Amino acid sequence: MSVVLTPVVLKTDASSDALAQHLDLSLVNDWSDDPNQVHVFYHDQRLVIGLPPVNREHPVAVDFELALRKRHPGKELLLKAIGGSRHRASVVDATAGLGRDSFLLASHGCTVTLCERMPVVAALLADGLRRAEKSSDCAEIASRMQLHHGSGAEYLASLSEQDCPDVVYLDPMFPVSGKSALVKKEMRLFHSLVGLDQDSDALLEIALQRARHRVVVKRPPKAPYLAERKPQLSVTGKAVRFDIYPLKAFPKGY
Ligand SMILES: C[S@@+](CC[C@H](N)C(=O)[O-])C[C@H]1O[C@@H](n2cnc3c(N)ncnc32)[C@H](O)[C@@H]1O
Repeated sequence: MSVVLTPVVLKTDASSDALAQHLDLSLVNDWSDDPNQVHVFYHDQRLVIGLPPVNREHPVAVDFELALRKRHPGKELLLKAIGGSRHRASVVDATAGLGRDSFLLASHGCTVTLCERMPVVAALLADGLRRAEKSSDCAEIASRMQLHHGSGAEYLASLSEQDCPDVVYLDPMFPVSGKSALVKKEMRLFHSLVGLDQDSDALLEIALQRARHRVVVKRPPKAPYLAERKPQLSVTGKAVRFDIYPLKAFPKGY
């Protein structure tokens, strides 16, 4: 079972007090003695999460400019799984996390609503989007991304028929595995903040009711199907699998 520690806000900036209030977290002036305590703080004008320096780990931020330059693992598979012409598809990413998959989809033309229910993660996303909107490289992509701070299931349930998206994308938390040391470190930090998503089976059910064309679920290659529901199709790479639940074909030329 993963242990989720309540994060604290580390005072590094004039805005730290307001941040602690906004997130309803304790404000501290110094690092905790607990090496596993997650701290939220401003660093180089970015909002980041990090462990005490004794861990020698880089703090994690949402950095879409970096994402533009870096290879996105599973990129081709994700684009294939989303299907249709990505130039028009509307996507609800109901488990946005650090927004990497959403950003990839938006950078290929999708309009993406990012739902994130964890306040600290939503704050990291909001900070990343704010910087992306000011960046000459990312502003156009960011204009297709909209953040919804709250439950993906509630957001989907609230949509009118005509606002339902073409695709609902799900990537709920799964126990850490993987070989890359860096991914492991980042994922460990993220896991200690978010824990496991225990309600993702129900999220799949609502996604299947609200998507117009398909639901796509990201899983580790050998993980069981979400809600034990066998997809019509899966595309699998070395580190990731996308389960595809088609509902209605995309119109020709779409
Ligand atoms: C594995 S991460 C997603 C990573 C993301 N695909 C990316 O590219 O960065 C899962 C995230 O979904 C969020 N989440 C899980 N269930 C959710 C729900 N029902 N509504 C909103 N957010 C949810 C968790 O808080 C976590 O931040």
